[in-house]
Amino acid sequence: MFEPTLYTEDRNKNYEMVLEQLRALIEGETDVIANLANASALLYQFLDEVNWVGFYLWKENELVLGPFQGLPACIRIPNGKGVCGTAVTEKETILVENVHAFPGHIACDAKSQSEIVIPIIIDDHVFGVLDIDSPILKRFDTTDQTYLEKFVDILKRQLV
Ligand code: SME
Repeated sequence: MFEPTLYTEDRNKNYEMVLEQLRALIEGETDVIANLANASALLYQFLDEVNWVGFYLWKENELVLGPFQGLPACIRIPNGKGVCGTAVTEKETILVENVHAFPGHIACDAKSQSEIVIPIIIDDHVFGVLDIDSPILKRFDTTDQTYLEKFVDILKRQLV
């Protein structure tokens, strides 16, 4: 049974706790869908001011919707399109302070104002992306980026 933690005032400490919770959730489980589903649920209940948390998985040269929390979303994102496709092309995290100012942004939920996308690269192959949307501008900063990249690193070990 998963027990939600009581988070503190210390943002770094809270993120460290979430990383611990992720490790505990996926330990010993090899089912990819189950692990991605729990990872998206964990982040969705931990992060404040987010309206979508989920994964797109790389399949035959495009991104296809995977496990997520939030409103139903666009199912397929062509290679290189949107924030997600750009993160795959660049092979690095994309932090978008204002999605309306990002050329080619794909709007799945009209409420989304800012976004962060972390590519999931395993042994130089694209596995997919972790995508998080917020209904407020400039929701994500480099602290979020650092910890969300660690989150993906932990998850990756269970995806190979
Ligand atoms: N905004 C993303 C599309 C996915 S939704 O945000 C869930 C993009 O531009 O790639």
